Amino acid sequence: MPKTEKLKEIKDEVLNLKRSPLYKERVKNKVFPVLGAGNHNAKIMFVGEAPGKNEAEQGRPFCGASGRVLDELLESIKMDRKDVYVTNIVKDRPTANRDPSLEEIKIYGPFLDRQIDIIQPKVIATLGRYSAEYIMKKFDLDFEIEPIGKMRGKAFGAKAPYGDIKIIPLLHPAVALYNSFSRDDLKKDFEILKNF
Ligand code: URA
Repeated sequence: MPKTEKLKEIKDEVLNLKRSPLYKERVKNKVFPVLGAGNHNAKIMFVGEAPGKNEAEQGRPFCGASGRVLDELLESIKMDRKDVYVTNIVKDRPTANRDPSLEEIKIYGPFLDRQIDIIQPKVIATLGRYSAEYIMKKFDLDFEIEPIGKMRGKAFGAKAPYGDIKIIPLLHPAVALYNSFSRDDLKKDFEILKNF
């Protein structure tokens, strides 16, 4: 089955995900789940946390303020959204932009797992600590998990069912909006992606 069809199957399942506590909110607010966007043959996959307000309204990942920072970071290493695949762990917006809960990560994680198996990226760049922890655990790198401030910008080798890959934990682009880090700090971390 072509990749696009397999990804469409995942989308249809998420659309009907009545067992998720976020499903009712999505229907009530007349917004969309956010599955992912970009190149289905991408070598690099970015994994964020969960859609925010803009993303749920448009059904696209990173299309608000954080998305503009992400675009700037990609541009700094001469990459474009068209070359990469961007998704999140949690596919529906957690109410009022709170952090995703463990339960939500457990419900939506398997959809991300399937997206990884379909797209087969060589590099998975995580954005923020939730996706870093999820992906590091998924690829048996529990023993390497440290606070995101220590892991950021490093490449960890891992084995996927389809071959060797690298996991690169990065800070979430939103940290540049809250001024905890500058765009230059984030750009420095992004440079590592140039090697791939
Ligand atoms: N933050 C995320 O983690 N993901 C998005 O898609 C948007 C903002």
